[in-house]
Amino acid sequence: MQRLAPALRQDNVPLDLISLIQAILTASKDISFRVGQGHLNDLLGSTEDENVQGEVQKKLDVISNDMLKEIILESGFVKAISSEEEDHCVAGVEDGKYLVSFDPLDGSSNTDINSLIGTIFSIHEAPKDLAANDNDMFKQAGDKQVCAGYVLYGPSTMLAMTTGNGTHFYVLDKTQGEFLLVERNVQVPADTAEFSVNMSNQRFWQTPMQNYINDLLAGNTGPRGKNFNMRWIAAMVGDIHRVLCRGGIFTYPTDSKDASKPNKLRLMYEANPMAFLLEQAGGLAMTSQGRIMDIQPDSIHQRVEVIMGSKNEVEKCLSYYK
Ligand code: F6P
Ligand code: MN
Repeated sequence: MQRLAPALRQDNVPLDLISLIQAILTASKDISFRVGQGHLNDLLGSTEDENVQGEVQKKLDVISNDMLKEIILESGFVKAISSEEEDHCVAGVEDGKYLVSFDPLDGSSNTDINSLIGTIFSIHEAPKDLAANDNDMFKQAGDKQVCAGYVLYGPSTMLAMTTGNGTHFYVLDKTQGEFLLVERNVQVPADTAEFSVNMSNQRFWQTPMQNYINDLLAGNTGPRGKNFNMRWIAAMVGDIHRVLCRGGIFTYPTDSKDASKPNKLRLMYEANPMAFLLEQAGGLAMTSQGRIMDIQPDSIHQRVEVIMGSKNEVEKCLSYYK
């Protein structure tokens, strides 16, 4: 099996970007070890703090964030990082070529139940005319990403990554400490009979989403004429991995549960990187209003509606909004 760096060179990925990716993965190997330690090192549970999103920080959120931040900023390739766990961007080196946005530990409520979690990352080129501590540098559409990926800490530690040349899967070989290429050019089937949504929010959704999901639930007695299965891991990284593996539609729709927060998932380090991975695998990544990667961000922690996965099913869902 091919190791990561030769596989990336084969795709003509610039050497500095390969080095940056390797820095991110060095941190992820450490995180993989730490999340595995769990109980043994008193790493489960929460801290006393909340992040800028008003969410309680898990101990492993903070540890993962610190590891990624330190290693990425030390790499010398990065002008600034932006993280779910940091209020503002954190400056690196002024002449750094890249910006990295990340969710250090997605689905971190799963840490305490030994369930799926992962690190999500997105890389853009850094503008030259803005200072390294300026959040405005990050206000670039998802379409401008030069790399996106996630590391899933499951039974295997797996990397899904794209540099715009297809989406590829790698597995961490823990005996060698290397990510090895296991599947090149992952393809998401266009059709599916599986959906992924937090059904407990159903009464707060907008009418088109209510109607769409009702038709899926009606199964072979309803307008769709077939039965659908449902899955919800409560970690986007786990749900999107399943969609990349076998298809499906994943949505976190706009809801009216909390008027100050109509959308849950974050554009820069959740929706955009997953959108890039899915589109590179033949899937679609939309809001009810348009393509996720076309959105011009207005803040680094902006939230967005997400409807993504198998192409024909996403299109079917969007047809309810017309
Ligand atoms: O990071 C936000 C997140 O944890 C996602 O990983 C996941 O898809 C979603 O929120 C879970 O939401 P809920 O708590 O509504 O199940
Ligand atoms: Mn997350």
